[in-house]
Formats: sequence, C-alpha cells, structure tokens
Amino acid sequence: MQGAYTQVKGPVLGLESSCDETAAAILAPDGQILAETVLSQTAHAAFGGVVPEIAARAHLAHLPGLVARVMAEAGLNFADLGAVAASAGPGLIGGLIVGSGFAKGVALARGLPFVAVNHLEAHALTPRLPGLLPQPVAFPYLLLLMSGGHCQCVAVEGVGRHRRLGGTIDDAVGEAFDKVGKLLGLGWPGGPAVEALAREGQADAFALPRPLLGRAGCDFSFSGLKTAVAQLIGKFPAGSLPRQTAADIAASFQRAVADVMADRASHAIAMFRALHPEGRLLVVAGGVAANTLLRTALQTVAERHGFTFAAPPLRLCGDNAVMVAWTAIERLRLGLVDGMDHAPRPRWPLEALAA
Ligand code: KG4
Ligand code: ZN
Repeated sequence: MQGAYTQVKGPVLGLESSCDETAAAILAPDGQILAETVLSQTAHAAFGGVVPEIAARAHLAHLPGLVARVMAEAGLNFADLGAVAASAGPGLIGGLIVGSGFAKGVALARGLPFVAVNHLEAHALTPRLPGLLPQPVAFPYLLLLMSGGHCQCVAVEGVGRHRRLGGTIDDAVGEAFDKVGKLLGLGWPGGPAVEALAREGQADAFALPRPLLGRAGCDFSFSGLKTAVAQLIGKFPAGSLPRQTAADIAASFQRAVADVMADRASHAIAMFRALHPEGRLLVVAGGVAANTLLRTALQTVAERHGFTFAAPPLRLCGDNAVMVAWTAIERLRLGLVDGMDHAPRPRWPLEALAA
C-alpha cells in the first residue's frame, strides 16, 4: 500500500516471531540500533525440530516481556515511536499471527504506521544497515540465504525488487545439517554440533555425493546427500557408531556441502553478473552462515570472480528483529505502509513483493 509516510517520524519497533526466535528491536530513523533482544526457544530440542504450536505459545508468552525490555533499554514510551513492524511471512502461521497482532495493537493504539515485513526481504536488506559493513551497500547485490528453512540465491535489486536465481528443490541446507546431526545422535539444532564434531574427523574419509554439482543454474538439492549419510550410518548396528567414524562422517558431509555451495555460488555469480555487470558483492545470511568451512569456501569463490564477500555479524545472520525494523525503515522511506487488514502469509515468496 502506498501511504503518506515518506519519512520515518521516530524510532521503529520491529518484531520477529516467524519461526523459533522471539525477538524485538528498536532502531532510530537513521538505522542506529537503540535496543535489541533475541530469545531462542529451546523447548523444541526434545522433539528434534520446531513444533509450531509450542513456538506460537512461546511467542505469546515472551513477546510482551521482550518488547518491554527493549523499550526500557531505549528509554522510550510507545508514544515516542514512529512506526511498528513485524515479520508477516513466510513462516509458521501461529507465530506470525502473534507478532503481527501485537504490532498492529501498538500501531492502532498510538496511531502509528504498521509495516508488514517479508522475513526473506529482511534477511536480504540486512547488509544495508548503516555501519554494518565497511562500505555502504548499494543495489544490486547477490544474496545467498542459507538457513534451516530457506536456501536460495537472490539478486537484490531494490526495496521490494528481488529476483530469485535459484533455490533448493528439496531440503534447506540447515535442514540437512539438522537431519545429519540427528542421524549422528547429536543434539538439535544439528548445525553447530556437526561442525564441532567435523573438526575431529577426516573430510576425505567417505565419498559422499555432491548433488547438482556442475549442473546449469544455481538450484540446490540436499536430500540425496542426507540419504547417503543415513545409509552409511545404517551399516553400523544401532548405537555402535565409533566416535572417530562419526567425526569422519560429519567432516565428509560438511565437505560435500561446502563443495556444493561453492559450485552453486559460482553459478549464481555468473547468472547475477549477466543481469548486473556492475554488481560486485556477494552477501550471505541465515544461521548456516555461521559455519566456518562454508564461509571460507564462499569467500574463495567470491574472490575468484572478483566479488567482495560480506557476512553480517552472526547475531544478525540468524533470525532477529533488527532486520525487521531496518526493512520497515527502508519501506517507510519509500512511502510503503500496510493496512490493519494485512493478513500474515505462511508462504510469501520474495517475487510477490514487486506486485
Ligand atoms: O537462520 P536460522 O537461525 O533460523 C532459521 O532457520 O530461520 O538458521 C538455523 C539453522 C539451523 O538449521 C542450524 O542447524 C543451522 O542454521 N546452523 C548451522 C551452524 N549454526 C547454525 N549449520 C551449520 N554450521 C553451523 N555452524
Ligand atoms: Zn530467517
């Protein structure tokens, strides 16, 4: 919706509740972070994955307290705010309803503009947060989003203007780490645990498939790799996998993922360059960007193509509310606000923003 808010009139409160992080942040109109907090829900670990109903109830229980905390930290009252924003999709509908409903309530009570933020756009615009990267980040740039729920290459061409170049045809990369973690009997989420175990193993111990390696385009596939790991582990009687073998499997799996990511990123850069010969930046986002081997592999590919590689600090790679508030500021500057009738969307592809 086109509105009258072509300037941001005060600090912006952003809320994130699309998956299993409950987060709130307040940014000044220029993007300066005044307060931020993230609560990662841990109750899901017992179930080996995010349970939507538990997530929604936890958002409901924790969001008011987190908002009160950031308001106090920033020294603000609701009357001081310039706008309120929430992740409104894609994600788990229960959590999206909690965040959007809360944001709309504050907006309605204080007569503030409400911004329904696309969670993927929030990841995509994070590198433009002033002061985050050494140079101001101008459009266009290439984004590699790699999290537990998403895995895609996106040409970020402007606010509301994103071109998906490729993405996963089955599992997201973080999901693959989580499933392999489970197969190896590690805790949830599996990514950090797999990476830690891989440090003790040999990456060339097992020959694992590299799905879609060398194939045209920049789509991803991880389910075949996960199945190969399952078959490997299945050769051992339950509970008898030696620790060194587990470490070798973790290292071999991680190496296979890094090889695939590097190859896909290389294709994505070529596709991006064909569209935008002036583009020179590859940015990564999502929780998997915490992985050192993957980061190094992607940095090497970027530099080989003459691209600068940038990764936001880890706390802003994973799900957070700073990115939500920042995206709202970017949209408000263009006069983009949303009505109280905006419905959260469990599925909300980036391309839909252009309409
Ligand atoms: O972006 P994020 O915090 O949440 C969403 O998925 O939206 O990403 C979480 C994902 C999980 O799948 C987790 O296993 C993975 O990121 N992850 C990692 C590492 N740290 C987190 N994967 C590989 N290596 C890591 N060090
Ligand atoms: Zn996310």
